Amino acid sequence: MSWDPSIYLAFDNERTRPAIELAARVALQAPRVVVDLGCGPGNSTAVLAQRWPAARFVGVDNSAEMLAAARKTALNAEWQQADLANWAARELVPVIFSNAAYQWIDGHGAIFPRLLSMLEPKGVLALQMPRNFEAPSHVLLRETAAAGPWAPRVTRLHRPKPVLEPAEYYAMLSSHASSLDIWETEYLQALDGEDAVFKWVSGTALVPYRNALEDTERDAFLNAYRERLSRAYPRQANGKTLFPFKRIFIVARR
Ligand SMILES: C[S@@+](CC[C@H](N)C(=O)[O-])C[C@H]1O[C@@H](n2cnc3c(N)ncnc32)[C@H](O)[C@@H]1O
Repeated sequence: MSWDPSIYLAFDNERTRPAIELAARVALQAPRVVVDLGCGPGNSTAVLAQRWPAARFVGVDNSAEMLAAARKTALNAEWQQADLANWAARELVPVIFSNAAYQWIDGHGAIFPRLLSMLEPKGVLALQMPRNFEAPSHVLLRETAAAGPWAPRVTRLHRPKPVLEPAEYYAMLSSHASSLDIWETEYLQALDGEDAVFKWVSGTALVPYRNALEDTERDAFLNAYRERLSRAYPRQANGKTLFPFKRIFIVARR
């Protein structure tokens, strides 16, 4: 998939806030190494560097574009290009962190216990993923995908349940963890600008759809989707667009 870091970072504050809130819940004073899985352009790695300035950082992502943006930051990190589905630490580490990445990857039931096993004793696995797949933004994406000549190329992109229920993660991880804290937050995001929700999803959920379509068909698909979104998410009198967004947080200690 081809990501565009500048489109992604158009909503840097809203996208990075959950990383700040997740890092705040990792109760380790001075970890030696901190791994950021799905580091993107380095915005979440920067949060970790602020929280633990003396740590060594490893940022992992499979997008060349995102890693190129991460390398341009002033962060002193080792940037690795790898697939999170099968990434393995070279040594036991104290912190494995991931903000807004594993919703792209199936097989959490195998992957998350394996990540826990890569931690030092008392090490912490900290994960955040969106859980907004039944929100109008996603429902309308599926509807638009199914309702046009592009359907054969895009309906297959729908993944029915990318992120599980909180209780399912509890069942998956509780026997592997000495402590486990799982919670959800719904942010009432008040976004600035025209077509704000369309711009938001352009940086994330729309990426595979853009990649699967070409030229005029892509434009027609995007216009049809933008139209639906503008009806579902009208602009407020103050110019903001409200975009409620639910996220799950998991902090598991080995
Ligand atoms: C929504 S961005 C999150 C970026 C950053 N962590 C943040 O907090 O904003 C998701 C990142 O996951 C990466 N990603 C998605 N699937 C991946 C995979 N299978 N392996 C490695 N990285 C992946 C994408 O390239 C992208 O940079």
